[in-house]
Amino acid sequence: MDFLELAKSRYSCRRFSDRQVEDEKIEKLLEAARLAPTAVNFQPQRIIVVKSDEALNKLKKGISPNLNPTLAFIISYDKNACWVREYDGASSGEVDASIVATHVMLEAANLGLGSTWVMHFNPFVVEEEFELEDNIIPVVVLVMGYPAVDAAPSANHTKRKDINEISKIL
Ligand SMILES: Cc1cc2nc3c(=O)[nH]c(=O)nc-3n(C[C@H](O)[C@H](O)[C@H](O)COP(=O)(O)O)c2cc1C
Repeated sequence: MDFLELAKSRYSCRRFSDRQVEDEKIEKLLEAARLAPTAVNFQPQRIIVVKSDEALNKLKKGISPNLNPTLAFIISYDKNACWVREYDGASSGEVDASIVATHVMLEAANLGLGSTWVMHFNPFVVEEEFELEDNIIPVVVLVMGYPAVDAAPSANHTKRKDINEISKIL
């Protein structure tokens, strides 16, 4: 599919069917995460694939109860593995993790899966339930699965600013 067609067809899916995501598709999602660019290629991304009922139940303690995914990736970065800008100490971690999450989100759409980028998770719960080490910082919980038959884009999906509001050509 043409890239812009894929970008247009993707929407935040918040209702999922019971159908399990096949392992081959999970491998492709992980490959998309692996191929993502990172600052100086330091690859600080660390990903937990939340797939088993036990793991999904742990995740549900830290996300909205309205979300009922069959799969999720907790996308974190290792703060000891990031590039740090010498001028001001800015770390690449959040940017790296966000690019990784975007790769996975678009590959999910490419594979016919629904997804929603979740920032509104409780990091303390996630850290505790998944026993994250202190240096591992979770940035995105990408919830995924096959869309439910009644899944539909929210009103926000079609609300995009005019190109002139967000850019200028000089
Ligand atoms: C950084 C970021 C954080 C987000 N956090 C949440 C979230 O916690 N819960 C949620 O339901 N959607 C979340 N979203 C999804 C946005 O609400 C959604 O992308 C936006 O409304 C546009 O809709 P669309 O993705 O259907 O095009 C998040 C998206 C981004 C990029």
